[in-house]
Amino acid sequence: MNILILGSGGREHAFTIKLVASTKVNQVFVAPGNAGTDKIATNININPTDFEAVKKTVLENNIKMVVVGPEAPLVAGVHDFFLSDATLKNIPVIGPKKDGATLEGSKDFSKQFMQKHGVPTAKYKSFTKENLQEGFAFLETLEPPFVLKADGLAAGKGVLILNSLTEAKQELEEMVSNKKFGEASTTVVIEEFLKGIELSVFVLTDGKNYKILPSAKDYKRIGEGDTGLNTGGMGAISPVPFADTAFLDKVEQLVVKPTINGLQKDGIDYRGFIFIGLMNDNGNPSVVEYNVRMGDPETEVVLPRIESDLFDLFDGVANQNLNEKSFKVTPKTATTVMLVSGGYPEAYQKNKEITGFNNVTESTVFHAGTTIKDNKVVTSGGRVMAVTSFGNTIEEALEKSYKSINQIKFDKMNFRKDIGFDLV
Ligand code: AMP
Ligand code: GLY
Repeated sequence: MNILILGSGGREHAFTIKLVASTKVNQVFVAPGNAGTDKIATNININPTDFEAVKKTVLENNIKMVVVGPEAPLVAGVHDFFLSDATLKNIPVIGPKKDGATLEGSKDFSKQFMQKHGVPTAKYKSFTKENLQEGFAFLETLEPPFVLKADGLAAGKGVLILNSLTEAKQELEEMVSNKKFGEASTTVVIEEFLKGIELSVFVLTDGKNYKILPSAKDYKRIGEGDTGLNTGGMGAISPVPFADTAFLDKVEQLVVKPTINGLQKDGIDYRGFIFIGLMNDNGNPSVVEYNVRMGDPETEVVLPRIESDLFDLFDGVANQNLNEKSFKVTPKTATTVMLVSGGYPEAYQKNKEITGFNNVTESTVFHAGTTIKDNKVVTSGGRVMAVTSFGNTIEEALEKSYKSINQIKFDKMNFRKDIGFDLV
């Protein structure tokens, strides 16, 4: 069978490696892909939100399954587009339809969903410029820090955590009245600040059955010691030592089951990944957010730990018999360290030649922001490569990742030297 993966990051390179390895998969196409996917699969240079171009690719290449990496095509309705097209409707799409994707596309919707189905989450209220004064009054009832979230997709930038009430009121007004995050902040969710330590749990579901994938912790800030600006993610670790069996059992009973049941009750036929951002407060889980896709760089530690055939699991999602599929995870620890362009997450330069990554033997190098220019692999984004290693302990795996990184070079390469600092 031929498969098309939509996206171009480390997450998509990780999907590609797993799917290429399946004996049941013939050819893998990636749109648009990167220099890493180009080496083992076929890149197609189209935009994943250009559905007509996706359709043409699918029909021209006899593609029989589409795996969606990022949220944008899902929120824009790529799955619905396939179902409404006579020539595409029997081709399964791994990723929810528009209704399910709203769990990520609208924070207000996802908070309402959690409240309705009893999923533990921070207390909240939503406001627009019409009830700004009520928003101010609600802020006054909360203790600092204040959490303000743009309702819509804001490229990971739509969450503000503020210590002063005056500042929180100013920012709320900026968001709803002056469109600080464009249309995304027409509505703003204000919620209680959750204490605890954060981690992510990933679920793959066919709408009825589910598999809980390995959990992971990512490192979002650019600076060591979790300081500085937020990024897409600077590294990740799986499993998460503080997510023990007792905690993960609570997550399954209190979060995963009510979420899957809630989707069914609400008539949302969800086929794909659910990424649950969680706070662990003294052993009790509370949901920070849902995403409707895998995380990046979390995928670069979660997928390598899955020993089962990924295509088989996707086939189970497509045919709603995920419960019949075997699911095996290695107990080993996987760590990944992200190499980024100097300046990221602010302005940075592109087109820097990357060398040495082919000499790495002890780690897997997942390409993220890379492309090929004049037969050379060059940088094309802020997050460039994720270097993943296995070990019996976090320390052992990290040591391998950092040793491998020593072999890789590009101008102004930057990375965090303290991934896992809080866990070891
Ligand atoms: P989100 O885009 O919802 O993932 O929010 C970005 C980050 O803000 C999360 O990963 C958390 O670190 C933090 N955050 C969001 N909501 C809360 C909350 N209610 N309490 C504490 N931290 C939060
Ligand atoms: N690493 C966080 C995300 O993928 O949203």
